[in-house]
Amino acid sequence: MITTDINIAKKALNKDEIIAIPTETVYGLGGNAFSEEAVKKIFALKNRPFYNPLIVHIKGPEFLPLVARDIPEIAMQMAKEFWPGPLTMVLKKQPIIPDLVTAGKETVAIRVPNHPVTLRLLEQLDFPLAAPSANPFGSISPTSAAHVANYFKDDLEIILDGGPCEKGLESTIIGFENNQPILYRLGSISVEDIERVTGKLPTKTKSDHEPMAPGMLSRHYAPSTATYLTNDVKSLIQRYQDKKVGLLLFKDPVMDTGVQHQEILSRSGNINEAAKNLYAAMHRLDQLGLDVIIAEQFPEEGLGKTINDRLQRAIKK
Ligand code: TXA
Ligand code: MG
Repeated sequence: MITTDINIAKKALNKDEIIAIPTETVYGLGGNAFSEEAVKKIFALKNRPFYNPLIVHIKGPEFLPLVARDIPEIAMQMAKEFWPGPLTMVLKKQPIIPDLVTAGKETVAIRVPNHPVTLRLLEQLDFPLAAPSANPFGSISPTSAAHVANYFKDDLEIILDGGPCEKGLESTIIGFENNQPILYRLGSISVEDIERVTGKLPTKTKSDHEPMAPGMLSRHYAPSTATYLTNDVKSLIQRYQDKKVGLLLFKDPVMDTGVQHQEILSRSGNINEAAKNLYAAMHRLDQLGLDVIIAEQFPEEGLGKTINDRLQRAIKK
């Protein structure tokens, strides 16, 4: 059921059930973060490996000490600056967080989502919500209630509808090593904006062996259609002229081509708008029965970096 009724959502969560929740980034599959039973259901539904820990969503920065300990001063500053919002911080965990949530790690990922519906819901709960993105493991994240419904059909009873996601890309994840912030996952706050608070941010986002954050796996966020990323869209169109081709472009359509479908992410060249539209466009393209999706490389600055990162992981390897 797709609903906007917070009471229905609250009742289900109080019974350790799992529901889809809207956030400003992408939809999540939420359950009581203090309940092993609820958390187990999240992993099962998502078909997510147990080594991949979840983000805990709290209702405000003042609840941070309930779930995390030994919080560095800089993390407090970042919380003040960016919460509620798409910043996830990985901090030492409090014992109240089940090991299942953190995949046995001593650290827990935490954020305060900036969505009025989910904030109102959290306000009415006695526990935070563990929530991964509401997609099967490895596939494109959902940015609307319809995307979630399409993925989980009858396996998910309640989808709390908060409209299309405002940001459209997952949160930026920051860890701390020796109290120094480190970028674990590019996200919907640009590196430049975070560096205004932290100074130069070291990065640890690419590791296929022991992923710190499996959002870092080299293939993730992937459509089922073979996807290519290029600086030279026209040449690739040439190469695939006998195939059914779809294009994923920043601002300008490609004229005089025989391609089946073009998705333009922002006609005015606005990177925030492009970010917001990215996953919905990928979902649409993936449903057209194409042979090939050709995506255009974005300018490597601001959110362009995050978009390129996601496209990079979506491509055929
Ligand atoms: O925007 C978002 O972050 C969305 C919404 C629903 O909040 N959530 C989301 O969750 O993207 P998920 O599970 O798809 O991605 C969370 C990432 C995973 O790559 C996971 O490995 C990483 O966070 N993570 C969680 N706990 C961690 C920890 N203790 N240390 C390192 N990485 C962690
Ligand atoms: Mg995810």
